[in-house]
Amino acid sequence: MKKILVTGGAGYIGSHTVVDLVLNGFQVHICDNFNNSSPKAVHAVEKILGVNIPLTKLDLKDKSAVGNMFEHGDFDGVIHFAGLKAVGESTSKPLAYYENNLLSTLNLLDACKKYNVQNFVFSSSATVYSDPAVVAYDEETTKTGKASSPYGTSKLEQEWILEDCVNGAEFPAGLRVVSLRYFNPIGAHSSSMIGEDPRGIPNNLAPFITQVMVGRREFLSVFGGDYATEDGTCIRDYIHVTDLARGHRLALEYIEKQPENSMEYINLGSGKGSSVLEVLHAFEATYGKSIPYKIVSRRPGDLPEFYAKTEKAQRLLNFKTEYSLDDMARDSWNWQKSNPNGFE
Ligand code: NAD
Ligand code: UFG
Repeated sequence: MKKILVTGGAGYIGSHTVVDLVLNGFQVHICDNFNNSSPKAVHAVEKILGVNIPLTKLDLKDKSAVGNMFEHGDFDGVIHFAGLKAVGESTSKPLAYYENNLLSTLNLLDACKKYNVQNFVFSSSATVYSDPAVVAYDEETTKTGKASSPYGTSKLEQEWILEDCVNGAEFPAGLRVVSLRYFNPIGAHSSSMIGEDPRGIPNNLAPFITQVMVGRREFLSVFGGDYATEDGTCIRDYIHVTDLARGHRLALEYIEKQPENSMEYINLGSGKGSSVLEVLHAFEATYGKSIPYKIVSRRPGDLPEFYAKTEKAQRLLNFKTEYSLDDMARDSWNWQKSNPNGFE
């Protein structure tokens, strides 16, 4: 498999994955509507790699534009990152989330069917898991069929659509899918030329901390200090975006060896939980100073603690994370320090 369409390739995880793919011999074609990213991210990827990356600016909701891209694309596989991803925003704008995320996937699948593209890696998320009684999620934990937000539900629904297509008879060459359920990606490429650049006030922990470090925000609000965890703050499974990027390449290499119709769900996490204060301390260690924070009330919808079970990723993909929390903090900070205003 050589030529991969990377949807959302200008985004945070997509741009890092493009770097890994090209360095490992894949040809890449990016498509993005830059709804939550900048063409400058693609230029930075080209600088890192020293090659030009073909890019189509399009909205995946536009079925005929997607068809045109496939007509000339000759793709062997797709990694589908494009989507809206803010959990909180999805609760106030569910329709926008269902429309964008579901239509994009439907249009892509239709084009895969027409142009005989058999290999599909999907960006899913730990938000498909919502059972508060479980802390270490394996890939079966989602059998309740419930997610904790419209965003998470849109991911579950996309997985169901993909699975139904695998089990159906519409794809002449068959359809092989790996749905990768990511935990909390942070960090940045070692060059500091690409990294996470959220629009507006960051929803997520790491970019909020680094914006405090560069002086764009006054202090970090730690959402809840009275959880039943060791230090009272929530525990998540953080994974370096470079590890996550490698996981996508391994998924492509795995998918090639699968039977004509197949689907796997695979967690990508470190298997280790870290509390909000542990993350903050890792950033303080690389900063060499303390970072101002205040403990405030809990954020609605947050679960106290969860992390990935990683056996399946190890068994099927031979995937194990290589970077530590300290590496993640260092690389997030180096990116933000070199680009205080992101790609602007
Ligand atoms: P991102 O917003 O940086 O990247 C997504 C990209 O998709 C953006 O460049 C955006 O412009 C593009 N896009 C969105 N809708 C589009 C459309 N209709 N047509 C064309 N392009 C469109 O997000 P990310 O953090 O890189 O996330 C990538 C994927 O991984 C998403 O599907 C997200 O849901 C999933 N994910 C992210 C996280 C996380 O914490 N970052 C965790 C789990 C899963
Ligand atoms: N947090 C703070 N202050 C902040 C931001 C976050 O204390 O300013 C805390 C949160 O309460 C939570 C932890 O930091 O305990 C991590 O929060 P994030 O918002 O960074 O991440 P989430 O675990 O809520 O969700 C993220 C992505 C989802 C993804 C999920 C997978 O936003 O898209 O990880 O685990 F699906």
